[in-house]
Amino acid sequence: MTRKKLIAANWKMHKTVAEAAAFAAEFVPMLESIPGCDLVVFPPATALATLSRAFKATRVAVGAQNVHWEASGAFTGEVSVEMIADAGGTWTIVGHSERRHLFGETDEAVARKLGAALAGGLSPILCVGEKLESRQAGEAESVVRRQLDAAFAPRSAGDLSRVVVAYEPVWAIGTGQTATPGDAETMHRFIRRTVEARFGAEAASTLRILYGGSVKPDNAAGLLGRPGVDGALVGGASLEAGSFADIARATG
Ligand code: PGA
Repeated sequence: MTRKKLIAANWKMHKTVAEAAAFAAEFVPMLESIPGCDLVVFPPATALATLSRAFKATRVAVGAQNVHWEASGAFTGEVSVEMIADAGGTWTIVGHSERRHLFGETDEAVARKLGAALAGGLSPILCVGEKLESRQAGEAESVVRRQLDAAFAPRSAGDLSRVVVAYEPVWAIGTGQTATPGDAETMHRFIRRTVEARFGAEAASTLRILYGGSVKPDNAAGLLGRPGVDGALVGGASLEAGSFADIARATG
């Protein structure tokens, strides 16, 4: 089973509208030197519409970093699926560890967000990953299994075709510390087995599983070369067009 690699940029709370447009202007000419992987950029919500216009005639998709599960209502500060789509977004991140741990997002909330994204036609990247203390206690797999079970219990195998999972060990995010390619491969295999147990072999074999956590141009090839590592979710190193392009070139 060959799965097309996906390289995603999570800009977090970085870049104004003008800065996002400048990134696009710099990045678009680099596309011809990037092998045929899928590319998606997740800017702050304020830059979504501008960035989707800037990437319109290209293969770069855009998405939101977070989404609410309700269609509308009194939810100050939240953004709906429809609003994301209206701004040109076709993807959303769901359950990023910063949402889970800094903003108290529960497994149940993540499951509802995943369902809303799918129902509204967005492609979700579901983030899972353990904290350092869980890894040290030998509980990395049980944490990841709990997160997957909660998000996938309400889902069917058919839903899975639009879902991407990102394994992002919390201790590797923004710390400069990456999982070794071997550790990433082992956890990706565990995730695929867990998905297979719930949805069957076919759904599991087509599921793309990204690695995230301090992916940089100099470690990308080692991670992306591992079986079962189908791409990367990149934070810090995606803020600069040249370094994001270098990571995407490592898929070739
Ligand atoms: P990082 O972030 O690449 O800066 O570690 C990754 C992420 O949080 O998705």
